[in-house]
Amino acid sequence: MDSYIDVFAAPKAEQARRTESIKLYGPDAFKGMRRAGDLTARCLDDIADLICAGTALSHINTFVLNFAAKHGAKPATLGYKGYPYACCTSVNHVVCHGFPNEKKLRDGDIVNVDVTLILDGWHGDSSRMYVVGKSKRKAERLIQIAHEAMMQGIRAVRPGARLGDIGHAIQTYAYSERCSVVREFCGHGIGQVFHDSPDILNFGKAGTGLELREGMIFTVEPMINLGRGEVKMLEDDWTAVTRDKSLSAQFEHSIGVTSDGFEVFTRSPSGLHAPGIELPTVSE
Ligand code: MF3
Ligand code: CO
Ligand code: CO
Repeated sequence: MDSYIDVFAAPKAEQARRTESIKLYGPDAFKGMRRAGDLTARCLDDIADLICAGTALSHINTFVLNFAAKHGAKPATLGYKGYPYACCTSVNHVVCHGFPNEKKLRDGDIVNVDVTLILDGWHGDSSRMYVVGKSKRKAERLIQIAHEAMMQGIRAVRPGARLGDIGHAIQTYAYSERCSVVREFCGHGIGQVFHDSPDILNFGKAGTGLELREGMIFTVEPMINLGRGEVKMLEDDWTAVTRDKSLSAQFEHSIGVTSDGFEVFTRSPSGLHAPGIELPTVSE
């Protein structure tokens, strides 16, 4: 039997701790997530201007640090389990958690920037793909597929649906486009905790798993590869790359389950969520 807890009935300490029971949030939490999510989305919007050949990844890190400070927020990744940067930058065949180091972007690169800002205790976690200069057709196709895979997962979200429906939607779509899904990483509950239960797997069986309820808050963040799905960790113990060196792409939104569907907290205010893609209006 799955257990759920009403967050505002829970003790304060419980609200900010990872728990096995699933937290159900009320309107104040949704307000907090809206503000944190919006700030993260604006940060990702601004990062679009920094993406060009010759930009060092560290420049993006510095930008996130300054952006957070200017808006009274904190980058959640900095010092998280020893992670040393304010964001993750994953270029080409890097799947996730790439370090924003001195490496420079080059024409034709694709890069995922993943930012989590904590504002008034709430975590806005989102990532997008950016293209440096002129990208190759196959890279552009992968980016579109990764975005649509995330959206297929998000569109499966409503009270009464199950966790397996999200993974199933993502996987079915990715496979229909002859792409693979990375199985080592998943989405997660979020709120006053960065990585809370439940895990939001990017594969699964429809109609199985935990039942979604109004008030749940989590991320959807599939990683999609052009080649095989297997990953390998680099020596820094953070950077995950595709084993076959094929290109990898990812998008991430933080969302909440509403009475009749979902609300995306990390929508781009400038419509910049993905190169060349309009995010359809959601049920709000
Ligand atoms: N932001 C990532 C996520 O989507 C987590 C990065 S954790 C870090 O969950 F430590 F690698 F930064
Ligand atoms: Co996340
Ligand atoms: Co993230």
